[in-house]
Amino acid sequence: MNKDITRDGKANGSSQSVITTQDVNLWYGATHALLDITMEIKTNNVTALIGPSGCGKSTLIRVFDRMNDIIDGCRIEGKVYFRGKNIYDPDVDVIEIRKRIGMIFQKPNPFPMSVYDNVAYGPKVHGITARSHLDEIVEKSLRLAALWNEVEDRLDQSAIGLSGGQQQRLCIARALAVEPEVILMDEPTSALDPIATAKIEDLITDLRKQYTVVIVTHNMQQAARISDFTGFMYLGKLIEFGRTVQIFERPGQELTENYITGRFG
Ligand SMILES: Nc1ncnc2c1ncn2[C@@H]1O[C@H](COP(=O)(O)OP(=O)(O)OP(=O)(O)O)[C@@H](O)[C@H]1O
Ligand SMILES: [Mg+2]
Repeated sequence: MNKDITRDGKANGSSQSVITTQDVNLWYGATHALLDITMEIKTNNVTALIGPSGCGKSTLIRVFDRMNDIIDGCRIEGKVYFRGKNIYDPDVDVIEIRKRIGMIFQKPNPFPMSVYDNVAYGPKVHGITARSHLDEIVEKSLRLAALWNEVEDRLDQSAIGLSGGQQQRLCIARALAVEPEVILMDEPTSALDPIATAKIEDLITDLRKQYTVVIVTHNMQQAARISDFTGFMYLGKLIEFGRTVQIFERPGQELTENYITGRFG
């Protein structure tokens, strides 16, 4: 079988890795939260991380953009290559990494400012000042995030007035505005209703044409629906990693099978 055939049978056009980890171990003080994680994130694919609460999914996704740096007592060993460069090397510019690898959190966290300013914020920080250019970026990002039609006549209103699902799509637009290469999402739909969730899922499926997406989810149906690759984690270990169809239909490990069939978790 062609290795580039995705879950839905369409060629995804790429089997290149954008992020590769090698023997990553991470501790919070004395807690050993990640054990020997070696894995690859493939370009233009959606990779889902699943596993029971506390298994290390959020910790691992934060490893990819050095978000754990800001946690006191957190120590990491091993290598995390982003396009061939170890992002934990001392000469790496963390701001640059976070521009190229965006993060969406569980709870939508729009800034307390207008819809427009939320999206323009990142590009402004990165030096774009011309109003016409910012207008262009704001519209393009909101369209990509499937939100434009709902907010085009309220760009100057506060983002806090949007619904939860709209706020989450705004956060996605805000992430897209700085043209990242990878988008990390930590349970992006767990605070949303089914309709808003479906919109975000459609959006993620669209996004992978241009971006690489890594998503943490508690919802196994969601992982099966939207991801190309799935990693199953348990007690800080990556127990199994592979094509989503394989993980769900022919898991290679008993632990994976027990989890996806709902025997624990
Ligand atoms: N800031 C922190 N300080 C200390 N320990 C932490 C911290 N964050 C996470 N941990 C611990 O690391 C382990 C992994 O936690 P993590 O949040 O990555 O799990 P998770 O798989 O995302 O869980 P959930 O599904 O509940 O979000 C847990 O034992 C957790 O208690
Ligand atoms: Mg988590």
